[in-house]
Amino acid sequence: MKGIILAGGHGTRLYPITLGVSKQMLPVYDKPMIYYPLSVLMLAGITEIQIIAAPQDVPGFQRLLGDGSRLGLRLSYAEQDKPRGIADAFLVGAEHIGDDAVALVLGDNLFHGPGFGEILRSSARDIDGCVLFGYPVGDPERYGVGEVDAVGRLLRLAEKPAAPRSNLAVTGLYFYDNDVVGIARGLRPSERGELEITDVNRTYLERGKAEFVQLGRGFVWLDTGTHDALTEAGQYVQILSRRQGVRIGCIEEIAWRMGYIDADTCHRLGLALSHSPYGRYLLEITTAEEKGE
Ligand code: G1P
Repeated sequence: MKGIILAGGHGTRLYPITLGVSKQMLPVYDKPMIYYPLSVLMLAGITEIQIIAAPQDVPGFQRLLGDGSRLGLRLSYAEQDKPRGIADAFLVGAEHIGDDAVALVLGDNLFHGPGFGEILRSSARDIDGCVLFGYPVGDPERYGVGEVDAVGRLLRLAEKPAAPRSNLAVTGLYFYDNDVVGIARGLRPSERGELEITDVNRTYLERGKAEFVQLGRGFVWLDTGTHDALTEAGQYVQILSRRQGVRIGCIEEIAWRMGYIDADTCHRLGLALSHSPYGRYLLEITTAEEKGE
């Protein structure tokens, strides 16, 4: 399965911050925002990942992440000259996807929860149709919304409905079989001129091939689209880190724990960052491992 991180958009709700820098480069506490969605794909077992960004932002992401080989990944980059909607990712990324299934994650979504890696890996296995992830929120009208029946089967999808029929937001993480490329090619732009991901998902739903996995209590899904949301996301990561010593979205640690790199390589990556607490964390976990702690 291939992966795509969509890191396009103008981030207008974060102006003036995003006048000079891509939103997905902004810090969420101790690391750039894109580390969080990247870590989700890595946890799903995906190592071939394309990052789609505006032309002026691609060099920055390349500087940050390179070709991915130091993490045991194969990263590539593609330009989206202007935002055309989320489903445009499948047109821009068609060559990267090839004949494979694909996981798409939005570059500003942050997930954290118990057993998330296992949920991701089992959802990614033998995809036939699509897998969407639902999360209960207090303001569903801001999102894609999924309506389910008594046993949790998906009945209907709506994009930012004025009167939502449920409180289940469709998060910015989507798994698809290879049909998605053809479906995206057949889409017509919505009233706001965009290729809507909800229209793609509706096509799967009509075919009876849309699975809806609900991430319930104990899970955290944050978006970082406004000044408050961005600050709160940073505070959430800070609290976990200071209170429990747990660092989420730490791509070097995940690469090591997933077996993409060995402990020595992870340790060396930590050495290069050892002036920061982030780098020292990598040194600590790899040293503890050596001592068998
Ligand atoms: C997009 C999707 C929406 C989804 C959301 C998740 O909205 O259109 O269906 O719920 O991402 O972050 P946007 O954030 O582009 O307004």
